Amino acid sequence: MDERKWWKESVVYQIYPQSFCDGNGDGVGDIPGIIGKLDYLAALGVDVLWLSPIYPSPGYDNGYDIIDYEAIDPRYGDMEDFERLLAEVHARGLRLIIDLVVNHTSSEHPWFKAARSDKADPKRDYYIWREPATDGGPPNNWGALFGGPAWTLDEKSDRYYLHLFSPRQPELNWKNPLLRRDIYAMMRRWLSKGVDGFRMDVISLIAKPDDFSDGPVGRSGYFDPRERIAANPEVHEYLREMRREALSGRDLMTVGEASASTLEDARRLTDPSGDELNMVFWFEHMDLDGGETFKWNDRTIPLLPLKSVMAKWQQGLAHSGWNALFWNNHDQPRMLSRLGDEGAEREASAKMLATCLHMMQGSPFIYQGEELGMTNMRFTSPDQLRDNESRGAYRRYVKSGEISKEDMLRYISLKSRDNARTPMQWNAAPGAGFTRSTPWMDINPNHTEINAEEQPAREDSVLNFYKALIRLRRAYPIVVYGDFVPYAQEDPNVFAYTRVLDGETLLVCCNFTARSLDFAPPAGFLNENAKLLLTNRETSVYMTESRLAPYEAAVILRKERS
Ligand code: GLC
Repeated sequence: MDERKWWKESVVYQIYPQSFCDGNGDGVGDIPGIIGKLDYLAALGVDVLWLSPIYPSPGYDNGYDIIDYEAIDPRYGDMEDFERLLAEVHARGLRLIIDLVVNHTSSEHPWFKAARSDKADPKRDYYIWREPATDGGPPNNWGALFGGPAWTLDEKSDRYYLHLFSPRQPELNWKNPLLRRDIYAMMRRWLSKGVDGFRMDVISLIAKPDDFSDGPVGRSGYFDPRERIAANPEVHEYLREMRREALSGRDLMTVGEASASTLEDARRLTDPSGDELNMVFWFEHMDLDGGETFKWNDRTIPLLPLKSVMAKWQQGLAHSGWNALFWNNHDQPRMLSRLGDEGAEREASAKMLATCLHMMQGSPFIYQGEELGMTNMRFTSPDQLRDNESRGAYRRYVKSGEISKEDMLRYISLKSRDNARTPMQWNAAPGAGFTRSTPWMDINPNHTEINAEEQPAREDSVLNFYKALIRLRRAYPIVVYGDFVPYAQEDPNVFAYTRVLDGETLLVCCNFTARSLDFAPPAGFLNENAKLLLTNRETSVYMTESRLAPYEAAVILRKERS
């Protein structure tokens, strides 16, 4: 068995502060609002809370564009509120990790303002500058994730600065030891306040390689340099230095967002002997419904490739790293709307998806509202959009005539990041219990039906099912430490696998369709040594008839005969 660690045994809950709970009635979620919901989170049974950014920000990318790493944005409260939150989290036996966004700052960060003010300013080298190409254009053909080139001209100095996301998010220059020193010092100050670790935003992209040459251009008209950047080995040096300088001597959780990383990269990032990160988010599964116009299409995630991608990462990181398991986060549409059923089988499919993920090896992350079976939003007008990525894509594709307005709104309702960011649905009242005034973005009208108020008391609610999954994790070490073995990999309808540990085998079968299906378990699963631990159906005939109901998930434990 792998070495036991609390962070392997933990379930993490992600809070997107802007949309979680509005304590002061200004329409925006805040820290006092979060404090008011800690009992709800403790009752859910999660171990760790991850707070998306709460730092001062112009809000262009909802806080992922920071102007001060060491203060609290007044919209969310102040440092006293934060300290109270931390104390209240700890008082409930939970832990808190915070978002560390150090690949870039806001263009309004004082460092960038200083860097721009004068070529000789000491902060100039905190960012990445290049001369224009001979025609005066950008230095290479790299594109920014939120549209356009990855370079913007600073007219004053006649130099371009690099930004992989938007011009308002200039890339930091990690080659500069003074920048690294400042970042580690900032991290140490948060740790001495008592935070329990970091979720590190696009950490795989911090180390820019020396190769700034052009690359092959995609449909966007630009080269996407992220894979080239993620492959640069210097990232490992920086992370090991970060461990030495900022993290050592503490028992923390570190989870890196490993955008564009390969399995090989991720293995190095999370290798237990490598002193880099505990675990990483990777995105190969999330990209399976992409296409030529990036994610803007009607495509859904196909099950067979999903099964093989999950198996690849489950087996690829076994004994040599650790997976951060997620179906949802603030950058993804709701998985229930992607792969489940928003209609009659909404609750069954939400539970099936949760089972499929939580029984794999890794630390599961729950994104706010997932535990209630919250769904995507139907956006009917671009005015409802708040996400810069979706707004930019709408302008670009609709204006160029490449995609019609109707199609684009449909794609946005399927794929936009805003689907995750609609306010949390606490109750059926106007304002959804999220706010008593006008919310900063529209609330999903289905909060009258899907909300946190009615679920605790209803035994078969999605919320109570998540609690049961978490209890299972506590009760059976095989759920955390068992080896993952794919089963019936070619079956196009059922996602099944086993977990194996110390003479026990756990079988997980998930029917991804709305039909009943015959599905044979591996030998030895239908006798007195096997026990059904969990199902999302009131009555399951799986153990007697090998038949799975629509969207049924069954978890069965078999002990070897001694
Ligand atoms: C990460 C964040 C995302 C943000 C981007 C730029 O991917 O999760 O929300 O837009 O980084 O900071």
